[in-house]
Amino acid sequence: AQPVKNICCVGAGYVGGPTAAVMAFQNPNIRVTVVDRDERRIRRWNSKHLPIHEPGLGDIVRIARDGSREISFTNTPVGSRANDGSDTASSSESEPASDGHHFRMTVVPSRQPNLIFSTEVTKCISEADIILIAVNTPTKSRGIGAGRATDMTAFEAVTSVVAQHARPGAIIVEKSTVPCRTAELVRETMELHRPGVHFEVLSNPEFLAAGTAVQDLLQPDRILIGSLTSESSRRAAETLATVYAAWVPRSRILTTNIWSSELSKLVANSMLAQRISSINSISAICEKTGAEVDEVAASIGRDPRIGNKFLKAGIGFGGSCFKKDILSLSYLAESLGLEEVGEYWRQVIKMNEYQRDRFSRRVITCLNNTLVAKKITLLGYAFKANTSDTRESPALEIIKTLLEENPREIAIYDPCCNPVVTRNEIKILLRDQAALQDDGGPIVVYSNAYEACAASHAILITTEFDEFRNKKRLETPKGLPGITFGSNKSLDPRPFKRIEPSETDILSLHKFLLHKNRCSGVGSDPLQRYIEEPACAEDC
Ligand code: UDX
Repeated sequence: AQPVKNICCVGAGYVGGPTAAVMAFQNPNIRVTVVDRDERRIRRWNSKHLPIHEPGLGDIVRIARDGSREISFTNTPVGSRANDGSDTASSSESEPASDGHHFRMTVVPSRQPNLIFSTEVTKCISEADIILIAVNTPTKSRGIGAGRATDMTAFEAVTSVVAQHARPGAIIVEKSTVPCRTAELVRETMELHRPGVHFEVLSNPEFLAAGTAVQDLLQPDRILIGSLTSESSRRAAETLATVYAAWVPRSRILTTNIWSSELSKLVANSMLAQRISSINSISAICEKTGAEVDEVAASIGRDPRIGNKFLKAGIGFGGSCFKKDILSLSYLAESLGLEEVGEYWRQVIKMNEYQRDRFSRRVITCLNNTLVAKKITLLGYAFKANTSDTRESPALEIIKTLLEENPREIAIYDPCCNPVVTRNEIKILLRDQAALQDDGGPIVVYSNAYEACAASHAILITTEFDEFRNKKRLETPKGLPGITFGSNKSLDPRPFKRIEPSETDILSLHKFLLHKNRCSGVGSDPLQRYIEEPACAEDC
């Protein structure tokens, strides 16, 4: 494999920024430049306040970008996807801390900065041996395939720029999630702009998850590199593999044909989402039969062929990837004339929406089918715990449904989301909603959970933040009634009497609402703990 001196990553977003930062961190001899035409974003990457919040990212960027001598910590939350690192090539030491977290300590000697963030797109492309394309590939919003097909506008635009400026022989890498056979389009674009000039095209999808991006990048389950069968393409794959081999054991670097690699990314996300929809569908059966979905998940999860991860029933998956990638997969299947296959995968999304809407409906039913003059609190607005990422958050869809019922107030508290930003975001997203007033009312975003919950008729736990669980109980002042939240942050530990010490994650609340429907008797009804005026639904 040829030696790599310069890597250029086009796109300084959720994938490009952290991926390039870790590549630079682990390869001090390679100059890694991240380019984006968005000047504001690049400015933020060059500042102390990075545009992306990921544990450990600040340290990695500081070391690679500024050449700081640092001792850095990365904590691995229990249950994170990352491996324990026993077979990694990293020079780190790892010790399990008493609270069940792993602290990975890396001592880094002083070094030359080798991570650059720049808006000089064409210049940086022209200097690179490897060019990673890591731009947005959202779902098309109009035209043919609207709402399903992948919008390739940004990807295609960048490919054209790369085609015009890359040096002959450069390796062009698809990092963005793209439909299967995109590499063919890349080759055609290169040929169109630079006929006769040879470039290599590889697929190298990224599997990092929000909130554990750095950990996932430092200790990936696998690195997937897809190439064509030609000798030169395989050599290019080997060149890219050497970049990863600086910190990833060879056994985890998989090389496949390019189409398998492109497809694998769509399939990985679709299968993960499918597991969630499958267990959510079972939760509906559990509610009608008295089976407990957590018990069912635990039982089936013991079968190693099924596995115990990603089997948590809840209010459905969110995030920027799952829905988009399933839509892309099903659209791909249909474009290939495979109607039944497309229909099969679309069902995963249908089930996700069914589960979320079922939850909203249950809340309304439990409040006597009217929210007029009532205050409803949502704890959590992000699509999952420990992130401020709100893309495709189920909470937003729940708010939409509740808003139609004309409540007095919808109170929101999220430990990671800035209240002002959240309020404006919701206002923009819901601007077409009839019940929304000019000032954003009746939606109120709080910076304190207790205030958000005060005098509320129902409290919905819509994101599985630890502080909404009761794992770590706090001491309460003597003489005051039970505990409220277990908190690992700066939550005011004052007891709040409508929330009792109990498991208060999304799942149990969900179950409580369902118990209510089975009418287990008001006195013993756990839902009573959450609702000020427990009002039995008609069918109870
Ligand atoms: C996902 C994939 O995990 C990652 O590999 C890919 O690169 C991008 O998409 P992410 O979107 O960050 O990552 O979130 P993830 O942790 O996978 O969770 C997705 C959603 O599923 C969240 O809304 C989460 O709350 C929900 N979920 C997850 C469940 O409802 N139940 C589960 O058991 C697991």
